[in-house]
Amino acid sequence: MDRIISIAIDGPAGSGKSTISKLISQKLNIEYIDTGAMYRAFTLKILNKKISLDDSEKILSEINNTIIDFKDNHIYLDGEIVDKQIRENIINQNVSYIAKIKEVRYRMVELQREIAKNKSVIMDGRDIGTVVLPDATYKFFIIASVDERAKRRYKELANEGEINITLEQVKKELKMRDKIDSTRDVAPLVKAKDAIEVDTTEKNIEESVNTILEIIQGR
Ligand code: DC
Repeated sequence: MDRIISIAIDGPAGSGKSTISKLISQKLNIEYIDTGAMYRAFTLKILNKKISLDDSEKILSEINNTIIDFKDNHIYLDGEIVDKQIRENIINQNVSYIAKIKEVRYRMVELQREIAKNKSVIMDGRDIGTVVLPDATYKFFIIASVDERAKRRYKELANEGEINITLEQVKKELKMRDKIDSTRDVAPLVKAKDAIEVDTTEKNIEESVNTILEIIQGR
């Protein structure tokens, strides 16, 4: 790509956003920014510090005291790589509560825009096409049935050695997260008016990536 482009990828948990975004970033040789990982990293910090999710004063004082950065495909929280810790189920269970705090979102959006400045990016999350990059060159909204998304998350957790959870429990937690993410006051998960919807329920990763690439490359 010789022009600067931005691709916004939004959708619910388990829809395939991050796997798809990573592959497209490699194909197009542009930077991938996983904004969910940023909310996860901040949640990890709050949990590690044993700050209660109700203690907004302490949470807010931490947000201005936290450095989250991406380098060489790793996410850094205050200078430390936290790739693995942010994928644990304890983070899945708590991140939506942190992500609905208005001040946390403002700070994250500021950081996300800063990271995306003056370069081609593909960014995935919940509010990329609506809030973070409203002028994105391309916007996609990735969906899949809740059963399919639960199966994918369950497999992911099992691969990471998380065995103390059932598929039913994963599905229940996923639905809960969908509800919190879609009904919060600030920047809820909604499809941007100009986003193209891609349903990955019946598609494998390659088919999903190709569907999006064909649109981007105008084929
Ligand atoms: O995509 P993910 O599962 O890694 O996202 C983790 C959580 O972060 C998700 O439950 C909602 C929140 N999130 C958000 O509110 N806005 C974003 N741009 C990205 C993620």
